[in-house]
Amino acid sequence: MKRIPVWIDCDPGVDDAAALVLADRLPELELLGISTVAGNAPLPLTTENALKICDLMGKDYPIFPGADKPLLRPYEYGESFHGADGLGGAKLPDPSGKAQAVPAWDAIYEAAKTCVGKLELITLGPLTNIAIALAKHPDLPDYLYRITLMGGSATRGNCTPAAEFNIHADPEAAQIVFRCPVPKVMCGLEVTEQAFLTRDELDGLGRIDRPMCRFFYEATPDLWRKNTAVGQGGWCVHDACPVLYAARPEVFSGREAGVFVETQSELTFGKTVTDLCSDKKFGEKNTLVVLDLDRPAFRDALLGAIKRA
Ligand code: RIB
Ligand code: CA
Repeated sequence: MKRIPVWIDCDPGVDDAAALVLADRLPELELLGISTVAGNAPLPLTTENALKICDLMGKDYPIFPGADKPLLRPYEYGESFHGADGLGGAKLPDPSGKAQAVPAWDAIYEAAKTCVGKLELITLGPLTNIAIALAKHPDLPDYLYRITLMGGSATRGNCTPAAEFNIHADPEAAQIVFRCPVPKVMCGLEVTEQAFLTRDELDGLGRIDRPMCRFFYEATPDLWRKNTAVGQGGWCVHDACPVLYAARPEVFSGREAGVFVETQSELTFGKTVTDLCSDKKFGEKNTLVVLDLDRPAFRDALLGAIKRA
């Protein structure tokens, strides 16, 4: 099987951690590198968490730190959701490795050139690094196969009533990405809130005496409580969706649409405005908006990866 070369830009984050484990374990994917951005936690912490997760996987993927704040707006700490350490309070040993000195935006560009147009860029946090890469390297779109992102929503928000966290964190960066000519897939809240693990499924991990299973059992109770308190079916593993989409798009369904980002309104900045349900359409369909998934197939792929790790 010809493996798909992927790069993951992330802000670990417990669901980012699940996405990294999934990318590492799916036979369809070849994870070439990881870049980090401020989001769920400040940049030093998201970078340290990525290093710790690689240790937990027994892998030494190169990790390239990127932006420690959004393009224009102040950085707002996502502490409220993933905890002060960004990993839900689950303890991992200090990292054995160190991050690379090359910044994320240059590393992404070099990897894309090396893959000569085949690299799938998967983003799991605010889009600041991607926006900087596009600004600094205007020919980057020539070398990217696709950008598959976790972010946004056609109908709702989880950060404000209008906006999802990753887009809200840096709407100007997100607008640059949605306007760039690279084909895009948006895994927004419509599909990622269906991508949950139930209490029983998480308790099943707690009964397996392996470090990876124990980590996700210990890192998720607060997230499970917060998600179910607002009516979701369990712990929403948002960031695993774009990774599984890259490997197995048949598990998902969606529709092409025009998608652009509100950056001006104080009430709705960070909203991904889509023309999915409008008779008035944007001039282009620039994004495939993923709307549904086969949860049993999602669950089996994710739990299988965690249990094999
Ligand atoms: O809204 C969910 C997104 O925000 C996920 O990427 C999660 O990790 C947080 O970053
Ligand atoms: Ca994330």
